[in-house]
Amino acid sequence: MSITILGIESSCDDTSAAVIRDGVMLSNVIAGQAVHEAYGGVVPELASRAHQQNIIPVVAEAIRRAGVDRTELDAIAFTCGPGLMGSLLVGVSFAKGLATSLNIPMIDVNHLQAHVLAHFIRLKPDDKGPSFPFLCLLVSGGNSQIIKVSDYDDMEVIGQTIDDAAGEAFDKCAKVMGLGYPGGPVVNSLAAEGDPKAFAFSKPHVKGYDYSFSGLKTSFLYTLRDRLIQDPGFIEKNRADLCASLQATVVDILMAKLLKAAEDLGIKEVALAGGVSANTALRDTFMDYALRYGWTVHIPPLAFTTDNAAMVAITGYFKYLKKDFCLIDTVPFSRVVI
Ligand code: KG4
Repeated sequence: MSITILGIESSCDDTSAAVIRDGVMLSNVIAGQAVHEAYGGVVPELASRAHQQNIIPVVAEAIRRAGVDRTELDAIAFTCGPGLMGSLLVGVSFAKGLATSLNIPMIDVNHLQAHVLAHFIRLKPDDKGPSFPFLCLLVSGGNSQIIKVSDYDDMEVIGQTIDDAAGEAFDKCAKVMGLGYPGGPVVNSLAAEGDPKAFAFSKPHVKGYDYSFSGLKTSFLYTLRDRLIQDPGFIEKNRADLCASLQATVVDILMAKLLKAAEDLGIKEVALAGGVSANTALRDTFMDYALRYGWTVHIPPLAFTTDNAAMVAITGYFKYLKKDFCLIDTVPFSRVVI
């Protein structure tokens, strides 16, 4: 018997719905929110309002594109947290209402686990995900973590940032160069024309597998401050080199700890997840490490690097198999847990 799951994602500024049947993706609809562009970052109140406008058409479209009828859904999986409380409430409340009206189970999904399990979304029936155990580098605007994944529901964070996330470092450095928000993709494209060795920025000394990016941000800021005194046109003249050097430093920091973890734990199956995994230098370095260290690497398709409901639906699918449902009194949570 087939299992059909509707996934709903509304943790930040993307409203998304997806339908997955027996692990194979039938649809994945994402509505972004351009309203935040003018503010240089996500405005929580505006995000919740936009989710309220988007949620019904996005869910209807996901069901339509999947070619299924609402009555064929076996369960509704929704992002329960972490995320912005007002945004989460829209998706959680909608999921509860729809599941209750269809009289089907609800499944609460941790957004970070969903990013990791995105690797198991199948686009065709014979696609395969990573084998257990594997290490997942989860890098986004809010998180930088190394996770040891022993099973679909057995994950251990073995390292994480003690201050800023990798995406935050990209975004904040881009902001001081006047590159707009989110800065990561802009830094990535400008870096293509620059020299990654043009500038040296400080790298952190943090114990174990933990990360730190606040020192890099300060070092970047001080370089600009000092050079701008000598030459007010410094940023404009060196934009590509600054981006390339910043990007190379972030990638070096991320990969050094990941390599250490992989060697210490003897794990050669390594995956990448989260918004920053769209970064081409990081993706290239993963491929390079596969050759150099014999890793089997798993790099997500670009559509699954950012927030999407397909990853919520696949997580819901695995929880459905274990009958791991939640009750109507489940409430969203904003803080990071995995
Ligand atoms: O996972 P995600 O979509 O959501 C949040 O964490 O909110 O990650 C967004 C982050 C932002 O910091 C953005 O600048 C970064 O991912 N990002 C990138 C690239 N694409 C997105 N950073 C570097 N290079 C990219 N190509």
